[in-house]
Amino acid sequence: MSNDYKIISNNFKLPKTILAPMAGITDVVLRSIVRSYSENTLLTTEMISAEALCNKPNVKISEVVENEAPIFCQLVGHKIEKMTKAAKILEPKCQGIDINMGCPVKKVTSGGDGCSLMLNPNLAYDIVQAMKETVKLPISVKFRLGFTKEQENFIEFGQLMEKAGANFITVHGRYRSQMYSGTSNWDKIGELVKNVSIPVFANGDILSYEDSQKCLMTTNAYGVSIGRGILYDVSLLSRIENNDKNVMSFQNKIKVLKDYIKKECNYRSEKVAIKFMRKFYPFFINNLKNASKYRLALMSEETLNGVNKILDEILSNYLLEV
Ligand SMILES: Cc1cc2nc3c(=O)[nH]c(=O)nc-3n(C[C@H](O)[C@H](O)[C@H](O)COP(=O)(O)O)c2cc1C
Repeated sequence: MSNDYKIISNNFKLPKTILAPMAGITDVVLRSIVRSYSENTLLTTEMISAEALCNKPNVKISEVVENEAPIFCQLVGHKIEKMTKAAKILEPKCQGIDINMGCPVKKVTSGGDGCSLMLNPNLAYDIVQAMKETVKLPISVKFRLGFTKEQENFIEFGQLMEKAGANFITVHGRYRSQMYSGTSNWDKIGELVKNVSIPVFANGDILSYEDSQKCLMTTNAYGVSIGRGILYDVSLLSRIENNDKNVMSFQNKIKVLKDYIKKECNYRSEKVAIKFMRKFYPFFINNLKNASKYRLALMSEETLNGVNKILDEILSNYLLEV
């Protein structure tokens, strides 16, 4: 990846890779693991409800610890007063604030938040402008191609976000109506890049180093934002920055997973963490010969010791086969 970093608002050197915000996934533990591989990548918190934060300024989800910088906190909401108040609460602990205008989930959009702001560009504009006036930090916006294909408006929307003062934007190349089906349309992201002057981060379906290169070639974007791909290889963002094509070995993946589970046990208690970790196993043990058998065993295990034993067995069987 090239080294032509842009300096944006508040003298912030804008990284070229972003850990995309993922609710229930990019918690403080996963972020610390990603950071251990990459000093430079821009971390993002899970989405934090502006309303919830205003009611409870120390809500656990907004926790940011030492050594996380550079990190952006992501806010979701649509009430200007709540969004600006929440931004003020977050200001001391992060380097910037990302506004969620892409979440497709009905619970979020039905209340006027997330991707439904793409249906209300004037309000989206006012939110960004008000947040720029309230905090000194850079403000970014994450959105999709539109609410539906028929309502596609990502170019006008991106231009409007730029006019409102957004320092950069991230675009997930799907419509809200697609949720996570189909593929992220990188050609469309490329169209946006041609039509705005602020940096654009391309998002969606970048699962490998090779994907990142293809995506950057197609879009000419400033950088990439990666969500699910990080779960297949926690070093992916660092590898992209350093032009390193070598995927993480399976031995290392298992080592990372064991460390991850242990850290989640310390963070959430063993009982909660063991259940919490179940959603991650398919990513870590994909491509294995007996993946579904192992997944089932891991899913029904209730203790840290039990999970570790299964992971040891998976690794020794793997080593026997290679
Ligand atoms: C489980 C999950 C939770 C997500 N939570 C958020 C969120 O809190 N805020 C947000 O802007 N996007 C959220 N996303 C969307 C991702 O940031 C990203 O746009 C999407 O997964 C596509 O990128 P990827 O293919 O690299 O994963 C979430 C995605 C997943 C799969």
